[in-house]
Amino acid sequence: KNYVSIGLLGLGTVGSGVVQLINNHQEELVHQVGCEVRVKSVLVRDAEKERDIQIGHTFLTTNSDEVLQDPEIDIVIEVMGGVEEAREHIIQALEAKKHVVTANKDLIALYGPELQKKATENQCDLFYEASVAGGIPILRGLSDGLVSDRIQKLMGIVNGTTNYILTKMDEDGLSYETALKEAQDLGFAEADPTSDVEGLDAARKMAILARLAFFTNVELNDVEVSGISNVSVEDLNYGNKLGLTMKLIGLAHIDNQQLEVSVQPTFLSKSHPLASVKNEYNAIYVNGEAVGETMFYGPGAGSLPTATAVMSDVVAVMKNMRLGVNGKSVVAPRFESVLKSSDQ
Ligand code: NAP
Ligand code: HSE
Repeated sequence: KNYVSIGLLGLGTVGSGVVQLINNHQEELVHQVGCEVRVKSVLVRDAEKERDIQIGHTFLTTNSDEVLQDPEIDIVIEVMGGVEEAREHIIQALEAKKHVVTANKDLIALYGPELQKKATENQCDLFYEASVAGGIPILRGLSDGLVSDRIQKLMGIVNGTTNYILTKMDEDGLSYETALKEAQDLGFAEADPTSDVEGLDAARKMAILARLAFFTNVELNDVEVSGISNVSVEDLNYGNKLGLTMKLIGLAHIDNQQLEVSVQPTFLSKSHPLASVKNEYNAIYVNGEAVGETMFYGPGAGSLPTATAVMSDVVAVMKNMRLGVNGKSVVAPRFESVLKSSDQ
């Protein structure tokens, strides 16, 4: 066939963005990879639900086999969220020799190296650029752009929902509850926003980043976490009087030859570059021995920004398909060195 066939798991905020991007940017995709990209079928919870998105001939199903066992589908995009069911679907897709792209940090933080191994055994790609910092290509930045360097420190805002809440409480005086509701309505928050506000979502992202930056395994339990659910408008006003802005900061650095990873609400001077990162935007400061200081900045959540990260992985898979190097690629982040470090 002269097109690539996609099976989607999930058609919510991110899945709809993926369909929209494929529909609207088909010309760019054909130019990059030399053939059309078509979404054949989508797994959803409720196939009868009214949806805003134009899906054309795409088939909605509640039966995962209709996506995962369809021999015509080349690439499965997992944007349904959750852990165990998503993991089972991804394993099934890889065993059926389908390449997998996922935006699921909960899953990658817990099972990334194991799923990577499964992908390699099946000569398939498993890519997950959208799992950290939405539209910012930070995983490729670390795995490709800065791959020759020795990273010394990562520091950043990696959760859009909490940054949105802190910005709205600080600048517009909104209550915590109202700001959270707005972040949910805009599609930034997780299905259960506890993981956003308690810092767990950021901790998962920091674990993924630290594995790629420091070539070592980082378990979630290794990350020291506290969230923003107890922060009040009064706390932020107090900081303002002292020239300080509060941000939920993820930090990974080497201290006394030990890698330390943490997520904590932190007061920053208003002149600090991360203090001016607002709303759902994220930014990650990366300090490398050779490159010095770099900063990656952009929308950290939301439908189309996250869809661009998903599609960057789809294009990487398709380029590998043309070269016949799926499962061996260096064009996207892989956990090979983490697997080696955990084998030792
Ligand atoms: P969402 O809006 O809640 O959408 C989830 C979609 O998956 C829905 O279409 C739902 O079907 C379907 N679904 C969920 N559980 C299912 C199940 N058990 N069986 C069949 N279908 C199921 O979620 P989202 O915000 O798009 O997030 C999806 C993933 O991307 C998550 O892993 C999230 O962490 C990640 N992510 C999100 C963002 C963001 O900005 N939202 C950014 C980066 C990464 P129905 O439509 O029928 O309910
Ligand atoms: N809930 C996440 C956030 C989505 O707010 O950053 C993007 O990963």
